Amino acid sequence: MKILVIGGGGREHAITWKLANDSCKPELFCAPGNAGTARIATNIDVGAEDCNGLLEWARTNRPDLTVVGPEVPLCAGIADVFAAEGLAVFGPSGEAAQMEGSKAFAKDVMTAAGVPTAASETFTDAEAALSYIREKGTPIVVKADGLAAGKGVIICETVADAEKAIASTILDKTFGDAGATIIVEECLVGEEASILALVDGETIVTLASSQDHKRVFNGDVGPNTGGMGAYSPAPVVTDDMWPEIRAQVLDPTIRELKKRGITYKGVLYAGLMLTEAGMMVLEFNCRFGDPETQAVLPRLGSDLTPALQACVDGTLSEEMVTWKPDACVSVVMASGGYPGPYEKGKTIEGLDAAEELEGVVVFHAGTKEETGEVVTSGGRVLGVTALGRDLSTAVDAAYSAVAQIRFDQAQYRTDIAARALPR
Ligand code: AMP
Ligand code: GLY
Repeated sequence: MKILVIGGGGREHAITWKLANDSCKPELFCAPGNAGTARIATNIDVGAEDCNGLLEWARTNRPDLTVVGPEVPLCAGIADVFAAEGLAVFGPSGEAAQMEGSKAFAKDVMTAAGVPTAASETFTDAEAALSYIREKGTPIVVKADGLAAGKGVIICETVADAEKAIASTILDKTFGDAGATIIVEECLVGEEASILALVDGETIVTLASSQDHKRVFNGDVGPNTGGMGAYSPAPVVTDDMWPEIRAQVLDPTIRELKKRGITYKGVLYAGLMLTEAGMMVLEFNCRFGDPETQAVLPRLGSDLTPALQACVDGTLSEEMVTWKPDACVSVVMASGGYPGPYEKGKTIEGLDAAEELEGVVVFHAGTKEETGEVVTSGGRVLGVTALGRDLSTAVDAAYSAVAQIRFDQAQYRTDIAARALPR
C-alpha cells in the first residue's frame, strides 16, 4: 500500500511515523517532509501548498491513500481535486474545511446547531465593529475570518487595543483578504483543551484529549506561537465530559453540516475552553492539531492506516481505535528568536542519544539534512516526545531526552504539562 502524506512539520512526521509502524507496512511518501520523515519515507520535493504539483505527482504515482496534514491545501480544496481524479484522500472537502477556513461560517454552523460558543457578531465595516465593541465593553476578542497561520486572534484589553486590532485587520489588511471580515467575540476565561475526532461522513470516533501550549515562554507568557509543546491525556477533560462533548459539540456540528449538504470526512478538531459556565467551542480546525498530534498518536494502540482508510470509505467504527494506558508529552525545541526572526542552518547534535532513551521518539519539524548532518530549517525544530506510565514519568523522560540534544540558540519551555501534574 502506497501512502502520500502532505506536509513537512512535526505533525506530519508523527503521522508518517505512526503509519510506518502499522502492521500493513505501507510504502510512504512525504511532500515535502523533513529530515525526520526522510528516514522512514521518501521525501518529494513538492510544497504542501502546491496543489497542482501534488496532483501531478499523485496522477503519475497513484498513491492508494493521501493524508493531508495542513489546513491551507484542505481549504483550497485539494481533497475535491484528488477525489475527482479517483484518488482516495483523508481530509475534508474544501466546503467542509470552511469550518476552519472561515470563522464566520463556523460560527453560523455553531449557532444553527446550538453548539455552545462565545457570543459574537460578524463585521466587514470598521466603524460598525467599533460601536459594537464600545457597547459590549472590554476585554473582547477580534478575529480575522480567514486563515491567518494562527495569528488572526487578538485579545483586546481596552477599546484602544480593539481600535488597533480593527485597523490592522480590516483597514491595513495585515492578514490580507482573511481579515476583510472579522468576528468580534466575548472573551472567555478558563482552561483550554483540544478534542480531535475522526469522522467518516456519519460516524464520529473521538481521539484521546490533549492540551497545547501556545505562548512562547514558561507560565504562558510572551507572544503566541504555533505551539511549544503538548501532552495527552489532558486530565482537565474528565470522563464525564465525553458524552457532553459528543452531544453538544460533535454530533450537532456534523448533523448541521449534513443539513447544508456538506458531508464531513477527516479530522474535526474542536478547540474547547472549559469555563465556569460549561464548555465552549473556541474554534474548529479541519485537520490534526500541531503539536497535539505528536502527543496523541504515540498513545494510539491500534493501527492508523485502517482508521484513516475507513474515514474515506465510510466504514469507521469505534473498535478501530484503541489506546495505550501510557501518557505522552511532546516538548518543542525551537530556534532562538522564534516566533520572531531566527537563524537557520544550525547543526543539531544528540538526536540518536535522545532516541535511545526508553519511550522516546523525536519528531522533526523544521529540520533538513545537509552534507550528512541534520540542521535547523525552521522556527519549531523538534518535538521531543516521550511515553510514560503517567504524565509525570513522561515529562521526566521527555526532558531527559531534551537534555541530550544541542543546537546553537535552542529554546524550549521547561513547564510542558506542568499544569496537569497536580491533577
Ligand atoms: P483560535 O485560533 O480561535 O483557536 O484562537 C487562538 C487562541 O486565542 C485560542 O487558543 C485562545 O487561547 C484564544 N482565544 C480565541 N478565542 C477566544 C475567546 N473568545 N476568549 C478568550 N480567548 C480566546
Ligand atoms: N495546536 C493548535 C492547532 O493545531 O491549530
